[in-house]
Amino acid sequence: TVVRREDYAAPAFWIDSVDLSFDLDPAKTRVLNRMRLRRNPDVPTQPLRLDGEDLNLARVMVNGGGCSFKMDGGQLVLENLPGLDDGGTEPFDLEIFTTCNPAKNTQLMGLYVSQGTFFTQCEAEGFRRITYFLDRPDVMSAYTVTLKAEKTLYPVLLSNGNLVDSGDLEDGRHFAKWVDPHKKPCYLFALVAGKLVHREQKVIARNGAEHLLQVYVRPGDLDKTEHAMNSLMASVVWDEARFGLPLDLERFMIVATSDFNMGAMENKGLNIFNTKYVLANPATATDTDYANIESVVGHEYFHNWTGNRITCRDWFQLSLKEGLTVFRDQEFSMDLCPSPSARAVKRIEDVRVLRTAQFPEDAGPMAHPVRPDSYAEINNFYTVTIYEKGAEVVRMMQTLVGRDGFARGMKLYFERFDGQAVTCDDFAQAIADANPGSELANHLPQFKRWYSQAGTPRVKAEGAYNAAERTYTLTLSQSCPTTPGQDHKEPFVIPVNLGLLSHEGRELPLQLAHWSNAEAGTRNFVLTQASETLTFINVDAEPVPSLLRAFSAPVVLECDYTDAELLVLLAHDTDAFNRWEAAQRLALRRALKAINEPGPVPTEPLNPAFITAMRAVLRHPDLDAAFKDLVLTLPAETYIAEQLAEVDPQRVHAVREAMRAQMARQLFDDWAWAFEAFEGNGAYSPDSTSAGRRALAGLALTHLCLAAADSGNTVWPGKAYQRFKDAGNMTDRFNALSALVVSGSELAKPALQRFHALFKDEALALDKWFALQAGAPDRGGNILPTVRQLMQHPDFQPRNPNRARSVLTTFCQANPAAFHRADAGGYVFWSERVMDIDGFNPQVAARLARALDRWKKLAEPYRSAAREAIARVAAKPDLSNDVREVVTHALKD
Ligand code: ARG
Ligand code: ZN
Repeated sequence: TVVRREDYAAPAFWIDSVDLSFDLDPAKTRVLNRMRLRRNPDVPTQPLRLDGEDLNLARVMVNGGGCSFKMDGGQLVLENLPGLDDGGTEPFDLEIFTTCNPAKNTQLMGLYVSQGTFFTQCEAEGFRRITYFLDRPDVMSAYTVTLKAEKTLYPVLLSNGNLVDSGDLEDGRHFAKWVDPHKKPCYLFALVAGKLVHREQKVIARNGAEHLLQVYVRPGDLDKTEHAMNSLMASVVWDEARFGLPLDLERFMIVATSDFNMGAMENKGLNIFNTKYVLANPATATDTDYANIESVVGHEYFHNWTGNRITCRDWFQLSLKEGLTVFRDQEFSMDLCPSPSARAVKRIEDVRVLRTAQFPEDAGPMAHPVRPDSYAEINNFYTVTIYEKGAEVVRMMQTLVGRDGFARGMKLYFERFDGQAVTCDDFAQAIADANPGSELANHLPQFKRWYSQAGTPRVKAEGAYNAAERTYTLTLSQSCPTTPGQDHKEPFVIPVNLGLLSHEGRELPLQLAHWSNAEAGTRNFVLTQASETLTFINVDAEPVPSLLRAFSAPVVLECDYTDAELLVLLAHDTDAFNRWEAAQRLALRRALKAINEPGPVPTEPLNPAFITAMRAVLRHPDLDAAFKDLVLTLPAETYIAEQLAEVDPQRVHAVREAMRAQMARQLFDDWAWAFEAFEGNGAYSPDSTSAGRRALAGLALTHLCLAAADSGNTVWPGKAYQRFKDAGNMTDRFNALSALVVSGSELAKPALQRFHALFKDEALALDKWFALQAGAPDRGGNILPTVRQLMQHPDFQPRNPNRARSVLTTFCQANPAAFHRADAGGYVFWSERVMDIDGFNPQVAARLARALDRWKKLAEPYRSAAREAIARVAAKPDLSNDVREVVTHALKD
């Protein structure tokens, strides 16, 4: 059944308080739920319908006495309640006693057991698997929670808020009582019980209040919690400094679990994290892991205000908290950067995610607006559109009102809505109202099309120089492709940051007739019409336009640059994002040409000018290593594929490999120089400057090993193996291993064995080991058999989401040439895995199911084979809602 946004109705009852008492036992946990309810006078009188799922109901009592009830699907329906006959709104007590089986909970929603410890995951609709409740975010209640469990097995008992009581019980059991001072929706409820150890830190806030920060992990992992704690402290400081939002709790806890469907969860005062986003030490975690931990710890912490203090009225408003909070975590990471160029690197990385993951989603069968209109399964909507595109929408608001204006808007948002469950409209209105006269306020209804219209807009830019008039006219036209259910699109409000460069690369003064002052540098133009023309005056020579600087809007920019113009931008643009973008355009252009021309794949798809430009960047004395690494990394195969009307994944792969081989060969001496210059051997520090140097050294090593493989040289693979063995940190070790695997060196096999022996007890390092093999370049179709073998490995645990993803998602989503086989073997494998996983974890299955989203773009024989595989999944009778929604959309025409 489909849920529609327009059907929203306020709840018929409020639940003012909840007193939960848990008797924790893996096979049979008893839950006593005592609620105080009251009829909502604003809606017509109707029975109380409580959500429930996989619960055993033992007892229902109203005001201390028995009462009648019935079941309707999963819902518990009460028709004889105080107020229902007379329209009264007097509060009454409702007591419900149920049991559940956490040990058998394989879908990891609700209360489950992971390695002997109890955890919960309630967002979006998991609380109904713990007790009968109004499982919707607009019902906010005060929680008291008592946990009882055997003391030796479960010494640590945690829930939201403050610990008010604890002690021993009979029979070796003990208890803890927690009271959360803040009202919250039930999706923010959490409990944890088990054998855990913790690191803690006291922090004093600006107002002198003392807070206790804690990070809980399994015994043995304490040496991997320092970075998470540092990130948490930095988050607390940042949110207060940038937005005036202080920590509102005496105690803030993070707990790590290795079995988790997603990244992490912002439960009030008790965040539960996938270990992947908590645990790090230099020996087991890479620079990327360190950076991800920083941003996810920040993300969940920032939810405390954007999500928890102000929450969503309904799940269609999910981006209200997620888009805003991603924006905030992006800004947090940027503000921690040591330099403007490091900020630009972070921006490029974020845009790369958007363009390689969100743009395809927006062009595929699951395309949906940032605020969707309907869904069958809300878990399918925790998407890159809700998160990353949602963050871009918030970023555009900041661009339109300015950084200070945005902070004012946030202030007003909290003044208006603190403690409430609200909508995306409420947020946009607050930002606009705090900035009267701004471009956002002037165009608010039109701006909000970003929330209602799906699809990636395209902006076409056409420039014309008039030497006689000394004018340059720039015409910007927008359009947006149709998406499922939306055949017609209205124009968007698109902020276009722009500048003009001379052909020598000098930043030119910008003067429009109505811009009073001419200043060199970036100006913001707001495109609101389908097409608009800007006429710049006093332009001495034909300029090179630098458009959409810092990627000021989530659009595809089409501009007929010449190669020479792109080389000017690459060499001279003051906007680092557009410098990188120019290199991407040059490479993309070459890739598309080689893909589209008939005949065999050229051995040299790149032209000498491009190689020369890459050499200049690589050897540049002033550019950051991290930036060089990004510029010298070719566009991803999935990104290249998106630009094509019809995709032959094998050809895309072959062309990109040929380009990479050419860069390896023709820049050989430069890579060798870069490796020596950046390899570094000092003590490990995860800061972005050091990380950038390691990344560039790693990229150089991969190219050196690739070139060596071509020429039969064994020196570089030997060096890589040595580095792999001697590396002082996981980043260098893994990069060296990856260089051996990617280049197909004979040393890859012994290195992989050695890696396994070293890290057999480190789950997260083993995930990398699995992923590296599932994602390795396909040589003669060897990866599918490798993947099948990996699944037989004693360390492969299909029910652990991280491990399953390390093999299956990597193969199906990150290794297109191995997955898209002419014999359809990849698709058959995919359908088997989706159906199998759906039997125990629908959320993970539905994510994997999305790997074939773009099947309609595939060339034959892939297209027909993919369709058949999807149809096979769709034909399975007992599919979950999750997978059914994905495959149904995929098959629609
Ligand atoms: N709110 C969490 C976050 O973004 C994500 C939780 C999603 N979980 C789920 N089962 N859908 O930080
Ligand atoms: Zn979030």
